[in-house]
Amino acid sequence: MTATSAVSASPYGTLPPASPMPQRRPVSLPRLAQMRQAGEKITMLTAYDATFAAVADAAGVECILVGDSLGMVCQGLPSTVGVTLDTMAYHTASVARGLQRAQGTAWLIADLPYGTYAESREQALRSACTLMQAGAHMVKLEGGGWTVPAVEFLVQRGVPVCTHLGLTPQTVHALGGYRVQGKGEDAARTLRQHAHELQDAGAAMLVLEMVPSALAADITAELPHCHTIGIGAGNGTAGQVLVLHDMLGMNLGKMPKFVRNFMDGAGSVRAAMETYVQAVKHGHFPDNAVHAW
Ligand code: KIV
Repeated sequence: MTATSAVSASPYGTLPPASPMPQRRPVSLPRLAQMRQAGEKITMLTAYDATFAAVADAAGVECILVGDSLGMVCQGLPSTVGVTLDTMAYHTASVARGLQRAQGTAWLIADLPYGTYAESREQALRSACTLMQAGAHMVKLEGGGWTVPAVEFLVQRGVPVCTHLGLTPQTVHALGGYRVQGKGEDAARTLRQHAHELQDAGAAMLVLEMVPSALAADITAELPHCHTIGIGAGNGTAGQVLVLHDMLGMNLGKMPKFVRNFMDGAGSVRAAMETYVQAVKHGHFPDNAVHAW
């Protein structure tokens, strides 16, 4: 029996076989930079457990984000504010084990949760080490300006950093709700300046959430060393990310306008993820005409 025929179909999708099969090269920062240079879009999905992470990897997703959105989708919290570092470490370790068991090659990013990096650079490093030791390859933190010293400190100590600007869910209360950011000249100028400062501090990736597509495209063109990953930010970014449950059409609250339900017409979770990967790679998702702010 070949490795391929050992793959068993289930109502939940086809799980990767246990036996080795030809694989892509492990996703790394140099590999992501190559993709960027070649004009290939980077795909990212959130995952919070071993099985979904393995399926996303097998579907060709390059980056898996253990997002603190798990507070909302797994824990039923009203926002990401209540998520703890212990919880993030637990889910990061689960995802890392899932990838390892499935011989996955995805790049694993874990969110530093609220209150675990704001106090000092040292606190940020301690928190980052917890997630790196749980199996993350990179940590993500939210905000610009005040986060620059922490980003620099982590990068100098060998911790790859992804940053997050625009709608930053950990500060949803200060922002006054889940709304578009960077609208208007002043707000756009500040966002742009923060993005440049974060690249200069060594951030290798930048999630841009709910910002006007033209602004996201401009920032992308201006930051060759920091790969922009959009969510509700149009199709001019270097890559895209969606929350797993959203793209599978499962949401306890209101589905964000920029989300597409990839389960529509898909026979399995893996097929939905493969469709997402292909849609991003070919520029069919997101559709600027639909998602423009
Ligand atoms: O926590 C999360 O899932 C995120 C994504 C929305 C980018 O930060």
